[in-house]
Amino acid sequence: MADPMADPKSDRGASLDPHRIRADFPILQRQVRRRPLVYLDSAATTQKPLAVLEAMDHYYRQSNANVHRGVHTLAEEATALYEGARRKVAAFIGATDPAELIFTRGTTEAINLVAASWGAALKPGDVIAVTEMEHHANLVPWQLAAAKAGAEIRAIPITDGGLLDLDALDRVIDERCRMIAFTLVSNVLGTRNPVAPLVAAARRVGARVLVDAAQAAPQLALDVTALGVDFLAFSSHKMGGPTGIGALWGRRALLDAMPPYQGGGEMIQRVTIQSSTWAELPQKFEAGTPAIAEAVGWGAAVDYLTGLGMDAVARHEEEVTAYALQRLGEIPGLTIHGPLVNRGGAISFSLAGAHPHDIATILDTRGIAVRAGHHCAQPLHARLGIPASSRASVWVYTVREEIDALAEGLLAVGRVLGG
Ligand SMILES: Cc1ncc(COP(=O)(O)O)c(C=O)c1O
Repeated sequence: MADPMADPKSDRGASLDPHRIRADFPILQRQVRRRPLVYLDSAATTQKPLAVLEAMDHYYRQSNANVHRGVHTLAEEATALYEGARRKVAAFIGATDPAELIFTRGTTEAINLVAASWGAALKPGDVIAVTEMEHHANLVPWQLAAAKAGAEIRAIPITDGGLLDLDALDRVIDERCRMIAFTLVSNVLGTRNPVAPLVAAARRVGARVLVDAAQAAPQLALDVTALGVDFLAFSSHKMGGPTGIGALWGRRALLDAMPPYQGGGEMIQRVTIQSSTWAELPQKFEAGTPAIAEAVGWGAAVDYLTGLGMDAVARHEEEVTAYALQRLGEIPGLTIHGPLVNRGGAISFSLAGAHPHDIATILDTRGIAVRAGHHCAQPLHARLGIPASSRASVWVYTVREEIDALAEGLLAVGRVLGG
């Protein structure tokens, strides 16, 4: 079935050609409710290019075996593919040492790893600083660690415009602070948070810095060395790769000093009935059989994004987001939550008189996929004074025609619900 959105004439001058890119994503050819699929939920998970599907298929057809334990040909091939994926993903975020890149199930598990393992050294009275705009994945693990240690959680507030209130930094970050954990790009507001002032605040008091890059990795060129942070967590499935895999990058000295997160095969050196010693990084934190095919698929996604060029990806995200903000700004009664410039492609909004779930349901009848709810950020919605919001989010394959379809759909929502 031809993709009706694949009109090569429109979107001229964009940094990359999303119409051409759409041909790489088989799912974008399908229809939903007899309409062309308009997928505006990429902040939840992205669609997968053929290169990723083929890499995983090829792995299972040709090289499937368990890693690190075998001497036979398939085991060696699987191990080479798995470790090759680690090198690709590490290079993608500017990490010079692949051993500092630990595969996890995703961003959530990466943050839980740090909160449980690094957090085991927390003492009563220590402070963990987060922000008011965190995804629950970068809040609840810290709550668990804080409850164990008798530590305290503080939140850096946000302004009414959806930016971090940096004037409040001195109030929140004092010498009791051990960690500042914050999202680089908000999955609700789209806000891109400034790293340098937060790293500087942390260094002044000797605290560590963890960056949640779940939304940043798909849309920005990342360089952990330039960012100057201590830990960075991200997920494959938000960047064109499969679900079930993500990574924690951390400084070697910190990772070396941290106790294992989970015990089992792969992560040990020597085991007796009474005790064990640990494998070197990264295996120390990779207990059990890892997600091998998923790593291979993620490596293919990284190749795909690198082929597009992350600068072009970021420019496209900015251009299509700016167009969406403009079109949504024309809808009567619509409020956008978050900044209007220098932001990522997750756009949350409220429409007067319309519940987010009704909006999403009506849009779905037109083949348009948006998200409704609290987007795993209940404290942020409490700060905004709303229980839920609607969210449209874009990625490399999003074209202006889809934004137009959204705008028309929202006008229809207004007609239906407005009586
Ligand atoms: C900002 C942010 N952090 C963390 C997560 C959790 O990612 P995952 O579910 O892949 O672990 C998400 C996912 O929506 C997110 O948007």
